[in-house]
Amino acid sequence: MNSSHLLIKARNLTKKFGNLTAVDHVDFEVFKNECVGFLGPNGAGKTTTVRMVYCFLPLTEGELSVANMNVSNQQRNIKKMIGVAPQEDNLDPDFTVLKNLLVYARYFDISKAEASARAKQLLSFFQLEEKQDVLITHLSTGMKRRLILARALINEPQLLLLDEPTAGLDPQNRHIVWDKIRSLKKRGVTIILTTHYMEEATALCDRTFIMDRGRIIENGPPAELIRKHVGEDVLEVNNNEKVIKLLTKEFSDADFEVFGERIHVFTKKPHGVFELFLKKFPRNNVSIRNANLEDVFLKLTGRRLRD
Ligand SMILES: Nc1ncnc2c1ncn2[C@@H]1O[C@H](COP(=O)(O)OP(=O)(O)OP(=O)(O)O)[C@@H](O)[C@H]1O
Ligand SMILES: [Mg+2]
Repeated sequence: MNSSHLLIKARNLTKKFGNLTAVDHVDFEVFKNECVGFLGPNGAGKTTTVRMVYCFLPLTEGELSVANMNVSNQQRNIKKMIGVAPQEDNLDPDFTVLKNLLVYARYFDISKAEASARAKQLLSFFQLEEKQDVLITHLSTGMKRRLILARALINEPQLLLLDEPTAGLDPQNRHIVWDKIRSLKKRGVTIILTTHYMEEATALCDRTFIMDRGRIIENGPPAELIRKHVGEDVLEVNNNEKVIKLLTKEFSDADFEVFGERIHVFTKKPHGVFELFLKKFPRNNVSIRNANLEDVFLKLTGRRLRD
């Protein structure tokens, strides 16, 4: 893509909190109308990165521009074009649903009439119209999340930053949110989202950045990353010596990892090469499935807990 499509450019982007380097000299670009995902274990630096993009946190080092504007000195203009759904719930509990939207609209100098029209339309878009006069404390988790998304859109942003937009949501809510994200993308909005749900990143993102310990360790379209790091099929089978023997004999080029009681085997060979295991180990709880982004994530970031 050429530079006229460039929306965000980060070079050497770094954020330190005291001795801790939360974001460690990262470079990335986001192009207009892309949906990009930031993935990474807890504490990887996703939220900190996103916060620097919306001028909430100053950089420690490096450069960051949004629509050719420098985050260090053009905050006002940048904030105007961005919608943010933060990771934490920061709705105002003293206000109703509708009032939360109207008060937020004031930060953007939107006229009262216009704010009211947009709020109504957004409440309908997120299926909250019946809740407009309800206090925040009376909303379910899903309703709060949808309201935070509605609020992020009140200034009709070109760029939407969604920090774990579906964390803790039931499948119904999650699918509504996915559907809304897709329709916003169709309207031309550029979207950055962070998520721990690999299925979500695969379903929505054109590209993903995988972060670990403050660095971007890999990036690319989900399907490409899967092909590159994992392959086609994954065999999961109960761990025993016979299985290991067959693996070393017949699948010397396959990667395998032992996770407690189970072995995961990854191959770049075409689909179907693991059928042999179904026949030989009918009682070994064998399953063969497509490789997915979670395999890539675990392969690149490991299995150790981070917090
Ligand atoms: N305001 C702060 N002051 C001190 N340390 C912070 C602050 N914000 C974040 N950190 C630390 O920076 C690191 C990165 O945090 P960040 O919230 O960006 O991670 P994350 O990838 O969003 O994680 P999660 O998946 O848990 O949301 C963590 O070690 C965190 O404890
Ligand atoms: Mg976070």
